[in-house]
Amino acid sequence: MPTQTVLGLETSCDETAAAVVRLGANGKVEVLSSVVGSQIAAHAPYGGVVPEIAARAHVESIDAIALQALSDAGLGFGDLTGVAATAGPGLVGGVMVGLAFGKAVALARGLPLVAVNHLEGHAVSAKLGADLPYPFLLLLVSGGHCQLLGVDGVGACRRLGTTIDDAAGEAFDKIAKTLGLPYPGGPALEALAEGGDPDRFPLPRMLLGRKDCDFSFSGLKTAAARIAEALTTEAERRDLAAAVQAAIARQLAEKSDRAMAAYAVEHEGRGLRFVVAGGVAANRAVRAKLTEIATARGFSFTAPPLAYCTDNAAMIALAGAERLALGMSDPLDAPARPRWPLDQAAASANPTHVAGRKGAKA
Ligand code: KG4
Ligand code: ZN
Repeated sequence: MPTQTVLGLETSCDETAAAVVRLGANGKVEVLSSVVGSQIAAHAPYGGVVPEIAARAHVESIDAIALQALSDAGLGFGDLTGVAATAGPGLVGGVMVGLAFGKAVALARGLPLVAVNHLEGHAVSAKLGADLPYPFLLLLVSGGHCQLLGVDGVGACRRLGTTIDDAAGEAFDKIAKTLGLPYPGGPALEALAEGGDPDRFPLPRMLLGRKDCDFSFSGLKTAAARIAEALTTEAERRDLAAAVQAAIARQLAEKSDRAMAAYAVEHEGRGLRFVVAGGVAANRAVRAKLTEIATARGFSFTAPPLAYCTDNAAMIALAGAERLALGMSDPLDAPARPRWPLDQAAASANPTHVAGRKGAKA
C-alpha cells in the first residue's frame, strides 16, 4: 500500500477544521498538521449552534484554515495524494462548504476525493494517538450520536446499540443549560462537577429492565431540570453537576459492559479492544468509568488524544487515507448528506434505531 498524504476538511457542525495526515505504507499514522477554527463565540449568545451562522462562518474561514493546515505541515497542494471532506451527517449548509472546497481542490489538482462519513472519522480517531488494529468495539459518544458499534474494518461497522432519545453530549448540553452554564455545556458541566458530591441528589437509572444495548437520557434530563429549579447554593449546583455526570458515565458504562460481554463471545480467542470516541470521550469521569469496565472484561481501552475527541479534520483525513489505501474514492458529484447512518442496514431494519426527533442520532 503506497503512502497516503491527505488533506482533511471538516465543516459539519460548529468547527471549521483542516488537517494533513500521512498514512505510511507500514500503517504508521502521522498528523502533520491539525487546525481547528472554533465558532463558539459566534453561537454562544444563542445558547447553541445556529445553522445559518455556522454555514456562513465556514465560508468565511475555510480557505485560510486549509492553507494554514498545509503551511503548518510544510507542504503544498502538489505534495498531497488525496483530499477527504466530511459529506455528512451534519448541518447540510456547513457540510456543503467543506465538501465543495474539497471537490475544487481535487478537480484542480487531479487528486482523488473521499466523501467521508463524519462518524467514520470519529471511529478512526483513536488511531491518531495509538496503534489500534481492527477489529474493535466502539462507543461513539458525541453531541449528535450515541452508539455502540462493532468496527470490523474500513467502513465495516455493525451497530449494537443506539440512543432512543437524546445523544450523550446532547444530554450534557441540555442539562448544563438548565444549570445556567454556557454553551457548549459538556466541558462547563465537567468543570462545575469538580469536587461535587455525586450522591447528594438521587437521579433515575434509565432502561434498567432492558436487555439491549440502547441508551436513553430523557428521564435523566427531566429529573435534573426539576432538581435544578429548586437549587439555591453554588455547592448544590456543584453536587447536581457531579450527580448528572456520574449518571451519564454509569449508563454509558453499563451498556458498554453488556456490549463487551456479547462481543467477547463473538471474538473468542482474538484480541479484545474497546474504544471510546466523540466529544464526550473527553470527559474524565466517563473515561475513568469505561476504563474500569473494560479492564474488568479483559478488553484493552483506547481513547483519542483530547484534541481529537471533539470535531477535528485529522480524523477525517485519516478515514480518507484508509479508504484511499484500499483504492476507494468517490466521484466529484458525491452528495452532501444531512443524515447518513454508518450502518444503513441496522438503521432500516430496526425502527427504534432511526434518527431521533431532533436530528440524526443514528
Ligand atoms: O464530537 P463533537 O465535537 O461533535 C459532534 O459530532 O457532535 O461532540 C461535541 C459534544 C458536545 O455535546 C459537548 O458538550 C460534548 O461533546 N463534550 C463533552 C466534553 N467535551 C465535549 N461532554 C462532557 N464532558 C466534556 N469534557
Ligand atoms: Zn463529531
